Amino acid sequence: MTFKFEIEGGNFSKAGNASSAVKKILKQINVPPAIIKRLVVALYEGEVNVVAHARKGWIKVVIEPEEIFVNIEDEGPGIPNIELAMQEGYSTASQKVREMGFGAGMGLPNMKKNADLLNITSQVGKGTNVEIIIFLNQSHK
Ligand SMILES: Nc1ncnc2c1ncn2[C@@H]1O[C@H](COP(=O)(O)OP(=O)(O)OP(=O)(O)O)[C@@H](O)[C@H]1O
Ligand SMILES: [Mg+2]
Repeated sequence: MTFKFEIEGGNFSKAGNASSAVKKILKQINVPPAIIKRLVVALYEGEVNVVAHARKGWIKVVIEPEEIFVNIEDEGPGIPNIELAMQEGYSTASQKVREMGFGAGMGLPNMKKNADLLNITSQVGKGTNVEIIIFLNQSHK
């Protein structure tokens, strides 16, 4: 099963909508709650990052028997130094984003914590691509 969503950069009123829709779908197909929680936290952080830092984005969620794969792709400024961006507390969030309650620099570390696999690639001036995998059979871990 594959599901796709669009994300509007800058639109905080819609931030989290895709994550909520995915949560509903995973509940309906009886994915274990602990897995849903980890996946939705990681996805939510990625979704908010597109809203906060990029112009436009696309989410693809692929549910397979062994794993759930998430791809979050955006058009935006990109991340010049991914290793630095992964550090707790590192943030380039604007004043406006901070006023919305974001910008603690905890989103990427939180994604890392919750995903079984996290892969980020980025081209400065073009955009960012985030891949998240969570195994459904937790003996993989
Ligand atoms: N999709 C993205 N496009 C461009 N830059 C990004 C993107 N995602 C993350 N970044 C960069 O990485 C930094 C760290 O991201 P992270 O999610 O950890 O923190 P944050 O978004 O700044 O704050 P928080 O997630 O705690 O609200 C961001 O401040 C930004 O510089
Ligand atoms: Mg963030």
